[in-house]
Amino acid sequence: MFPLLLLLVVSVQSSVSAEHRRLSADNLLVITAATEETDGFNRFMRTSREFNYTVKILGLGEEWKGGDVARTVGGGQKVRWLKKELLKHSDKKDMVIMFVDSYDVIFASGPEELLSKFSRLGHRVVFSAEGFCWPDQRLASKYPVVHTGKRFLNSGGFIGFASDLSAIVQQWKYKDNDDDQLFYTKIYLDKSQRTKFNMTLDHRSRIFQNLNGAVDEVVLKFERAKVRARNVAYDTLPVVIHGNGPTKLQLNYLGNYVPTAWTYENGCGICDDDLLFFSDIPDDQMPLVYVAVFIEHATPFMDEFLERLTTMNYPMTRIRLFIHNNVVYHEHHIHRFWQRHKSLYPDAVLVGPEENLQEDKARTMAVESCKKDPECDYYFSIDSDVALTNADALRILIEENKSVIAPMLSKHGKLWSNFWGALSPEGYYSRSEDYIEIVQGKRIGLWNVPYITQVYLIKGSVLRSKLSRVSLYVEQGMDPDMVFCKSIRDQGVFMFLSNRDEFGRLVASTNFNTSRLHPDMWQIFDNPMDWREKYINENYSKIFEDKSFVEQPCPDVYWFPAFSDKMCDDLVETMEDYGQWSGGSHKDERLSGGYENVPTVDIHMNQIGFEKEWLKFLKEYIVPVTEKLYPGYYPKAQAIMNFVVRYRPDEQPSLRPHHDSSTFTINIALNRKSIDYEGGGCRFLRYDCKVESPRKGWSFMHPGRLTHYHEGLPTTRGTRYIMVSFVDP
Ligand SMILES: *[C@@H]1O[C@H](CO)[C@@H](O)[C@H](O)[C@H]1NC(C)=O
Ligand SMILES: *[C@@H]1O[C@H](CO)[C@@H](O)[C@H](O)[C@H]1NC(C)=O
Ligand SMILES: *[C@@H]1O[C@H](CO)[C@@H](O)[C@H](O)[C@H]1NC(C)=O
Ligand SMILES: *[C@@H]1O[C@H](CO)[C@@H](O)[C@H](O)[C@H]1NC(C)=O
Ligand SMILES: *[C@@H]1O[C@H](CO)[C@@H](O)[C@H](O)[C@H]1NC(C)=O
Repeated sequence: MFPLLLLLVVSVQSSVSAEHRRLSADNLLVITAATEETDGFNRFMRTSREFNYTVKILGLGEEWKGGDVARTVGGGQKVRWLKKELLKHSDKKDMVIMFVDSYDVIFASGPEELLSKFSRLGHRVVFSAEGFCWPDQRLASKYPVVHTGKRFLNSGGFIGFASDLSAIVQQWKYKDNDDDQLFYTKIYLDKSQRTKFNMTLDHRSRIFQNLNGAVDEVVLKFERAKVRARNVAYDTLPVVIHGNGPTKLQLNYLGNYVPTAWTYENGCGICDDDLLFFSDIPDDQMPLVYVAVFIEHATPFMDEFLERLTTMNYPMTRIRLFIHNNVVYHEHHIHRFWQRHKSLYPDAVLVGPEENLQEDKARTMAVESCKKDPECDYYFSIDSDVALTNADALRILIEENKSVIAPMLSKHGKLWSNFWGALSPEGYYSRSEDYIEIVQGKRIGLWNVPYITQVYLIKGSVLRSKLSRVSLYVEQGMDPDMVFCKSIRDQGVFMFLSNRDEFGRLVASTNFNTSRLHPDMWQIFDNPMDWREKYINENYSKIFEDKSFVEQPCPDVYWFPAFSDKMCDDLVETMEDYGQWSGGSHKDERLSGGYENVPTVDIHMNQIGFEKEWLKFLKEYIVPVTEKLYPGYYPKAQAIMNFVVRYRPDEQPSLRPHHDSSTFTINIALNRKSIDYEGGGCRFLRYDCKVESPRKGWSFMHPGRLTHYHEGLPTTRGTRYIMVSFVDP
């Protein structure tokens, strides 16, 4: 109890020293050193603007001679610049100067809080502290002992009166690549200098938070409308956060939230206002985008993927298309696409599987063509398993004005996405605290992340500057996506992910069986959204919006749109390709389980291995219709009899009157009357009611037993196909 009291008294006394009392934000100058405007530098400047710090930048545009500080010692050049700069201020009695690095530093609070904390520390010069004694560990024992907090000096951040700091740096007489931290450390460890300049270290991160060795001490504290980084080891709220050593990714993570006031509803850690806008720009002056498409494995919904390229809301004259198709199976898709759309892309480059170009080489080839063309404004890379359903996606990403940016996409209803929120120490996937919330859109914004894949936009200017000398995709023993992200991170370029808009989804391709004729039909489980868009009638949803939309041609016989044309065609082609139609006369009773009352020429869903998928279709799309049309009836959606029937004048033209062994029956027309066939239709005998003009893709639904004794009317020309399902037998 007693020593604690004493401490309190001391700190209160020193906080009222004459100099400290005169501190004002007008007399505070922040100095930093940066030779290049890196993404980290821009982030630093943005946070400084946010809090109205006055910042003097030293060294911009100069050549860096301070050594590779990330790997080894160095940094002396910064002290040389500071020595010169501080001469200008050495006489200013009330002036306080803070020096901080910039590439890996952010502000978490403003000048007033900084100065009040500085003042409470009660010293004229305060350096930041960390748990490692660097660069000379032999000096560790010379440091004063501290009871709590970090013991060793870090020169990435310090604050003090201008006169003292100036006097300190005037002692610099070393080389640019000598170590700045060692220089300051030696002064601090010299007791006479320490006393003379009234130096101390910020042991408990009241001002400076160095993250190296302290990552676990720093947590984000979310309040209703804002978020603050807190040091939970010392219960402090640091003002300056420094991602020193190997903690750059942790800083990127914190930087997504700090310092901007951020809310769950509409906030955004780093959504700048510096958006580019194109509304007034004529088409021919839009940025030139090299769009590179990679088909590296068999992927469902390829036609739809390729078609979406042409319906992007972007002038096609400003797109240069590159396609790498590495899959023989997809050649016919590319061929079809090319026949239809080649006039849109006069300069396109198509590389097919016969060229045997490996993925990493193909990606390199595509990115190099943008790099080499000074006119190339953006490089947009998109893989075949990306369903970019937002036609404005490219524009939106360009408007965000980032060096590298990806739209957030995930597999429908799943947590599998195209980014990682964090990296494991080995450089692989690790789940960040906010990963799920970002994927589910509960936190919305632009996120600085360590890994993106499958679809992203890179500025051409960045390819030609910061990334000009790196191999973006090729490295022995590493996958191209890993090489890509590592190269970008290593160059200090930030990769952003946006979930500010809905962009689309990822297509799952693991269970894609290309030995089937129309394998997309089997994708109802893995890719339900794509399946729906392709195979369900576009007017299906109107059944639920507009009561009068469902027709009732006969009593209790409902008629509504179910399949798209594509589903009808693919199903018929699949059946004809399978070809084993049961004969009308020698009906196999075992196959139909004895349920069929009257024999038809048909193929059952289980024969083509489509039973599971069909039941899923019934459950997802037919059950909701029954529940609407027959209120109070909750179908189990069991259906044992599911088959496609073929009617032909010379085979089986019609079906004699019968009941169905079902609670209700659905009957979907699969082709078009008067084009594909004549005649056909259905008559319900009890009501003497006929439906003679079935519509392709539309389904009848009627009770199976008793009341709906019915017959199939004769087909007089061509071939008529229907899909029949006896539900709840
Ligand atoms: C920064 O200065 C502007 C204009 O002087 C002011 O509107 C704003 O509130 C200040 N911001 C902070 C964080 O003090
Ligand atoms: C120097 O630091 C001590 C604390 O060690 C403090 O009491 C004193 O007021 C400081 N002197 C000046 C001149 O700021
Ligand atoms: C886009 O970003 C660059 C680099 O960060 C910046 O210099 C430029 O001013 C930004 N453009 C707009 C329109 O804000
Ligand atoms: C792929 O489809 C073929 C029929 O085209 C089938 O025989 C085979 O079992 C299927 N493979 C898988 C893994 O489902
Ligand atoms: C959907 O309904 C609209 C308007 O009634 C019609 O024009 C369109 O052809 C229908 N689509 C299909 C696939 O039937």
